[in-house]
Amino acid sequence: MAEDTATSASINVAFGTVAAGMMVIAEAHDGVFVAPRVEPTASFTLHPFAHCLHYGSTCFEGLKAHRGADGAVRVFRLDRHVARMRRTADLVQLPVPPADLLERMIVAAVEANLDEVPDAPGALYLRPMLIGTDPNIGAAASPSNGALLAVVASPVGDYFAGGVRPLSLLVETEVPRTTPQFGEAKAGANYLMALGVTRRARAEHGCDQVLFAPGGEVQETGAANFLLFDEHRVVTRALDSSFLHGVTRDSVLTLARDRGMAIEERTVTVDELLAWQGEAALAGTAAVLSGVGTLVHGGERRTVGDGQVGPITLGLREGLTAIQRGEAADVHGWTRIVER
Ligand code: PLP
Ligand code: COI
Repeated sequence: MAEDTATSASINVAFGTVAAGMMVIAEAHDGVFVAPRVEPTASFTLHPFAHCLHYGSTCFEGLKAHRGADGAVRVFRLDRHVARMRRTADLVQLPVPPADLLERMIVAAVEANLDEVPDAPGALYLRPMLIGTDPNIGAAASPSNGALLAVVASPVGDYFAGGVRPLSLLVETEVPRTTPQFGEAKAGANYLMALGVTRRARAEHGCDQVLFAPGGEVQETGAANFLLFDEHRVVTRALDSSFLHGVTRDSVLTLARDRGMAIEERTVTVDELLAWQGEAALAGTAAVLSGVGTLVHGGERRTVGDGQVGPITLGLREGLTAIQRGEAADVHGWTRIVER
């Protein structure tokens, strides 16, 4: 079957490098979005004066559609991702797409690429993106009312090469991930600001990611939220404007609460982190729930727990993926089946 071929090929390549065949596009003129089109994934044409190319008016989302053992394809927490993209669009001063339009476009992108949704543990990663297109290089102090909204897709496997393995994080207390007013935004500029320090962490310490903890208070990594677990509780920073409000974070906290664990949403200092006796993990659409085995701080390497991916992390990851794949009851109404 063609589907099997796509599946086995796609999950063995680097995350996000394979484009699914179809995309969905809608333009906004004078701030108003017109009817979306479903088209083969192909290059865009942009005027060289386009606002996004000069003044960074871009943002995006990231969510997944999962194929279950029953063959059904389910999109995970569509409403949350739509709401967050609208929040980000507002923060980066772009026309805010209506929620129903964005929802319909994401569902249409899954439908159009249904045959390219890999079997588990792969998934179809959906990347809604919004860019400012007004051709005006003088518009440094005014927003772009012209915009292009597109939903592209990519069959993916693991985000971190090497599958489920303990990650190592550099704890960064000096350089912030982003600026305070953009912490909550899923905007390209945030990833660029984190890139230099993340590259150095890789090159100099062999770390997978940087855990940003400006002023000694833990926030998140460059591409995922950060959680601490022990047998009875989850500890993580309370929602504030300094970091991205992850849908996976919210889902894991809900599952942990369902399992009778206590949830402590509060400040976590680097001192508490370094003394932590339990487990640590990264939560994100791409990262799923990935255990942390090593922290590097002040030039010293410290092992978290026994340095392996712990049983609490694995149990919650399993609980999450079982819902995504339709193998466990979706008691919170998080999934939506997409079919032709
Ligand atoms: N924080 C950052 C900076 C991210 O890029 C992501 C990934 O989307 C997350 C957190 C986790 O968010 P979510 O679980 O909604 O994917
Ligand atoms: C996601 O998990 O959706 C992300 O955005 C991570 C990423 C930057 C690939």
